[in-house]
Amino acid sequence: MKRTAQAATLAFACVLCLAFVLRGATHYGAASATQKQPLKANGMSAAALYGKNCATCHGKDGRSKTFKGKLKHAPDLTDAQWQAGKSDEHLFNSISNGREKMPAFGKKLTAQQIESLVSYVRGLKK
Ligand code: HEC
Repeated sequence: MKRTAQAATLAFACVLCLAFVLRGATHYGAASATQKQPLKANGMSAAALYGKNCATCHGKDGRSKTFKGKLKHAPDLTDAQWQAGKSDEHLFNSISNGREKMPAFGKKLTAQQIESLVSYVRGLKK
């Protein structure tokens, strides 16, 4: 009987120890992820949102040299001259409501996420 109690205590200690180690590891991971991607909205970084929703057409680099981007005449988002002609409000509106062959994201993403994408697009400027 005493042995079982001892074994149980040991097992409990192991679980505690493991939980502690795992907790530390996830904390560390989260901290370094935030450092790499400072733009965050609703738990997803702007870079991740862009990669998931926009890169198929605009490409990871924003130059829209993808098959879909060329097919639909997507603009080169990195073009400084092109960017200079568009206000933040204008970009926000186009992402929310769509424009020509560009799909609308107003129902799929929150205003906060779209704002983070506007900043992300600004960051693509060459
Ligand atoms: C299905 C392909 C496609 C996807 C996906 C897509 N776009 Fe576009 N995007 C386009 C096309 C095509 C245009 C050019 C629209 C036009 O004719 O003015 C465009 C234009 C834009 C513009 C310029 C709008 C303007 O008013 O000049 C921005 C900014 C933009 N996209 C950002 C994004 C972002 C951010 C995402 C992801 C949330 C995204 N796009 C997803 C195809 C796409």
